[in-house]
Amino acid sequence: MKNLKVAELLKSTEFDRIVNVKGWVRTKRGNNKVAFIALNDGSVIHNIQVVVDVASFDEEMLKLITTGAGISVTGKLVQSMGQGQSVEIQATEIEVYGTADANTYPLQKKGHSLEFLREIAHLRPRTNTFGAVLRIRHSLAFAIHKYFNDRGFYYLHTPIVTGSDAEGAGAMFRVTTLDALKPPLTETGEVNFKEDFFGKATNLTVSGQLEGELGATALSLIYTFGPTFRAENSNTPRHLAEFWMIEPEMAFYDITDNMDLAEDFLKYLVNYALEHNADDLEFLNTMYDKELVARLRSITETKYERLDYTEAVEILIKSGKTFEFPVSWGIDLQSEHERYLVEQHFKKPVILTNYPRDIKAFYMKQNDDGKTVRAMDVLFPNIGEIIGGSQREEVYEKLVNRMREMHIPEKEMWWYLETRQYGTVPHSGFGLGFERLVLFVTGMKNIRDVIPFPRTPQNAEF
Ligand code: 4AD
Ligand code: MG
Repeated sequence: MKNLKVAELLKSTEFDRIVNVKGWVRTKRGNNKVAFIALNDGSVIHNIQVVVDVASFDEEMLKLITTGAGISVTGKLVQSMGQGQSVEIQATEIEVYGTADANTYPLQKKGHSLEFLREIAHLRPRTNTFGAVLRIRHSLAFAIHKYFNDRGFYYLHTPIVTGSDAEGAGAMFRVTTLDALKPPLTETGEVNFKEDFFGKATNLTVSGQLEGELGATALSLIYTFGPTFRAENSNTPRHLAEFWMIEPEMAFYDITDNMDLAEDFLKYLVNYALEHNADDLEFLNTMYDKELVARLRSITETKYERLDYTEAVEILIKSGKTFEFPVSWGIDLQSEHERYLVEQHFKKPVILTNYPRDIKAFYMKQNDDGKTVRAMDVLFPNIGEIIGGSQREEVYEKLVNRMREMHIPEKEMWWYLETRQYGTVPHSGFGLGFERLVLFVTGMKNIRDVIPFPRTPQNAEF
C-alpha cells in the first residue's frame, strides 16, 4: 500500500479508504480501551491522530509505542470528531520499527531550551521548532532558485577550494594534504606548497564573487549559491564559520540597478515564505516572537531607505546615543549602529551606499571624490547587515592601482585582471548571507538555530 505523508493526509477529504502512514510518535495517551497516538513525519508541523482499539492489538507491542518510537500505521482514514484535527486514522495494523527508551530518549519531554537542543543537533530536527525552521529554510532555498531562473539568471558553480586569497573577507581555512607534523620545506625554511596536492597553497573559499564575475562577463546574469567559509573567531549570534551565500553578479548593472535587485529579491523571498510556510510561521509567531508575521509583512510593503554612509554617520553622531564603539567618519559600522538606523531612526530596512574606500574590498568601483567606493549594504531589523555588495571597478588601471595600494598580489590574480583587459563592462553584484535571511524569516535569535549542523569556533561535533 502506498505510504502517504501526514501533510497529504491532513488535507485529504477522501474518507473511509485504507491508508498507510509512517513516522515518529510525539505522544501517546488514552486508557485501557482506546489509545491516541500523535504521529509526525516531518512533512508538516501538525501531527496526525491515530486511534487504537486496545483490545485488537498485542498488549506488549502497544507498550513499545512511546514518544520517539518510529512506527508504521495502516488504517481507515476518517473525519475526526475530536477537537483540533480534521482527520484521523483508525488503526488496523501497527508495526514498530524502532523503540525509544522513555528513560533515556532526550526528547521525551517538551519545552527544552534552544541551548540544550544545540547539544543534541542530531535529534533536534524532530522537534516542532526545528521542523518549522528546516522547512522554511528549504522553501527559501527553492525560492532563490526560482527567483533567478524566472528572471534569466544562470546558476554558476564556483569552486569551494580556491588558490586565491585576495577577497580580503576574512581569515581562511587551509586545504592541504601535506603532513601537518613534517611538511616539506623550501630552502628558506618555509612550507613548500609546490609539493602540496594542487601544487600551490589552497584554501576554502570565503566568497564565490571573483569567479562569479568571470561568469557574468560572459553570461550577463549569473548567481552562485553555495557554502562559504570564514575562519574568524567571532562568537556572535550572527556569525558562522561555514555559511551559505547567494551571490548574483550582473553585467551592465550599475549600483542603482544593484540596489533595486537586492530590494526586490528580499521582498520576493519573504513573500514566498509568507505564502508557502504559513503554518510554520504561525507556530513560530505563537511560540517565540509575537511580532514575527507582522514584521515580515511590513518588510514586503515598505520602500527601503537609501542613503550615503556619510549621512548615516551624521545621523548616528546627532542621535546623542552612546554606542559601545564610538562613531566617526571612516569607521566600519557595527551591528549596534546598523540596528539603531534601522530599528530606531528609520524604522524600516536601510540601504547604505558610498562607503569609505579604506574599509572596503579592492574591487569596488571608486568614486570621483577619491575617498569613497560604490559599495552597498542592506541593513535589516534584528539582523543588521543581511546583504553586502557593490558596483565593481571595471577600469583596468584603477583596479590595478588599488590592488597595489592594498598589497594584493596582482600576479596571482592575472585571470581576474584579464576581465578588465578584454571586453571590460560595468557590472555589479552582491552577497546575501543565507542563514541571516533564515534568521530574519524565522525570527530565531541565534544563527546556530537556523542551520542543521552549525560550524562555529570549537564546535563541529555533528
Ligand atoms: O559582506 P560580505 O563579506 O560580502 C562578500 O563576501 C562579497 N564578496 C559579496 C558580493 O558582493 N558578491 O558577505 C556577504 C553577506 C553578508 O552581508 C552577511 O549576510 C553574510 O554574507 N555573512 C555571514 N553570514 C554568516 N556568518 C558569517 N561569518 C558571515 N559573513 C558574512
Ligand atoms: Mg559585508
